[in-house]
Amino acid sequence: MGICDVLRYLMATNRVVLVTGASRGFGRAIAIELAKGGDRVILNFRRSMTEVQGVYDEIQKLGGQAKIYRADMGDESKISGMMDVIRDEYGHLDSIIANASFGIPGPLLTTKSKAWDITMDATARSLLNLAQYGVPLMRQGGHIVSVSSYGHERILPGYGVVGVAKGAVATLTKALAVELAPKGIIVNGVLPGVSPTKSMMAIPGAAEALEMVTQQTPMGRLVTPEEVAKVVAFLVSGHANMIVGQQLIIDGGAILV
Ligand SMILES: NC(=O)c1ccc[n+]([C@@H]2O[C@H](COP(=O)([O-])OP(=O)(O)OC[C@H]3O[C@@H](n4cnc5c(N)ncnc54)[C@H](OP(=O)(O)O)[C@@H]3O)[C@@H](O)[C@H]2O)c1
Repeated sequence: MGICDVLRYLMATNRVVLVTGASRGFGRAIAIELAKGGDRVILNFRRSMTEVQGVYDEIQKLGGQAKIYRADMGDESKISGMMDVIRDEYGHLDSIIANASFGIPGPLLTTKSKAWDITMDATARSLLNLAQYGVPLMRQGGHIVSVSSYGHERILPGYGVVGVAKGAVATLTKALAVELAPKGIIVNGVLPGVSPTKSMMAIPGAAEALEMVTQQTPMGRLVTPEEVAKVVAFLVSGHANMIVGQQLIIDGGAILV
């Protein structure tokens, strides 16, 4: 038994946690934070094996435990297949961090039905399916945290159907919280402010927009993925179980001004 195995043994909790979209950005930071706390983390991603492998390697280096699982969150059959693997391998699931999101922005008037379906499936129906297939594995209670944005409350030009999907995530987070609280499953969400992640920087004009938000934010800077990860870790820690059905805004006060 090497030093890493000893570390892994000492750190491990019995908790099994699924983080969707764990290959970069907020999902990456959340996965690493939870693994540091001793959770066994399932790293879901869809496209980039290289990126997710980097997260896996970092967790290994820290003495944590992880497993990589590729599945498109917009595909119900892939979500149910992933939950089958988690059941067979771990026997249970304690937390789901529904972070992955994929959307096709643009003006609503020219949004095609296909773009609506892709966006709503990957961003909103994914949360519903994760709960439908994941809750049966949460036999001792558990936690579900949605990672979303407040782009449904403050209408961002061009965000289009992505903002609509975020509205669905907000309602689903509250409705699931009420439905699942009697089972001891605590559902909440986090709404980070803008951050220069890959999907954000792919939006034309993102650098200028981020600079403007930085200037306007009372804290004088943007939130980091690591700061968001610490809030998620608190929500699933068991110390926050009377916070139910909330979406916590983590943006340094940007929404206030
Ligand atoms: N960045 C911001 O400013 C900001 C602000 C507020 C809220 N958010 C929210 O934070 C969450 C994470 O965004 P991010 O900014 O961290 O983005 P990111 O860095 O681009 O990461 C997105 C992650 O989701 C995965 N992903 C995308 N579509 C997927 C699908 N259909 N199935 C499975 N995995 C999928 C990506 O993996 P692959 O590329 O390999 O598919 C990647 O791991 C999103 O819900 C986003 O709306 C972001």
